[in-house]
Amino acid sequence: MKKNPPIRVAVTGAAGNIGYALLFRIASGQMFGPDQPVALNLIEIEPGMDALKGVAMELDDCAFPLLTEVVQTSDLSEGFKDVDWALLVGSVPRKQGMERADLLGINGKVFVGQGKAINDHAKKSVRVVVVGNPCNTNCLIAMKSAPDIPDEQFFAMTRLDENRAKTQLAQKAGVPVQEVTELCVWGNHSPTMFPDFYNTKISRQKATDVITDEDWLKNTFVPTVGKRGAAIIAARGASSAASAANAVVDTVCDLNTPTRGGFHSVCVLSKGEYDTPAGIITSLPIKVDAVGNWRVVEGIQLNDYAKAQIKASNDELLEERKVAFGQLGLSV
Ligand code: LMR
Repeated sequence: MKKNPPIRVAVTGAAGNIGYALLFRIASGQMFGPDQPVALNLIEIEPGMDALKGVAMELDDCAFPLLTEVVQTSDLSEGFKDVDWALLVGSVPRKQGMERADLLGINGKVFVGQGKAINDHAKKSVRVVVVGNPCNTNCLIAMKSAPDIPDEQFFAMTRLDENRAKTQLAQKAGVPVQEVTELCVWGNHSPTMFPDFYNTKISRQKATDVITDEDWLKNTFVPTVGKRGAAIIAARGASSAASAANAVVDTVCDLNTPTRGGFHSVCVLSKGEYDTPAGIITSLPIKVDAVGNWRVVEGIQLNDYAKAQIKASNDELLEERKVAFGQLGLSV
């Protein structure tokens, strides 16, 4: 049987904690399926190259049948050469007491360089998923730095927040997590994000008919999801890694697979859908059609409370854009 050509995937921060949890899942076929060969371009900064060598040795030692090649590099032009996917995982992670926005100045410059290298070396069809925080604004910075790559090919990750929110609701309702569907996380990947429980279904019923305690939903559920990243840092002494890697796998699978019913939360460039300000990378309900094109799902009813929550999160993104673009000399 003729084999598909490999999908080439660049991963930045490849020797970091998320990278370590992610690479083996890509190489084993969990991201692109059991019949799809993959080639990995592992990108690290110079001080991480020894550790990266060890990671590459471990990939060898797994003897993954689907893994055709592993490139190890700190050179962005080599790392992004001809890639189909660029998973921008690497960034300085936040420590306890910091918010993701505190990383704007530290990480913004990195995403200018990566965006330019993607623009010049990746396939024009490359799809870019930004995980390094603050991921929405970093994604916008990379997108602006890659003018030859269509804007629709840039994404940032809120699937981790969607997964977190689904589990919280499932545990509260006492149902298996797959019973929780149609849960969109709106806005920024920050504590202001809004996991929209009003439109969520639990076992095909309105979530608010199953969990009738609206005070819990507003004042416990929403902040628990928004602050989950900080709670992991407090508990583990390091930011989420395995669950973040899992959400990267979910995000890429979602973008590669026609969506059956419902939608998923992905941050994309807003064109003003649902009154979000155009020109920011914000989390919206996304559906992928049979030929692989994504679109924002229309017709979701948002009440005044939901609208106010989403506006606050998008206002934060406007402010992040203002600060980051000012520091980096980028124009809107
Ligand atoms: C998370 O949500 O766990 C990550 O974005 C890491 C962080 O800083 O919260």
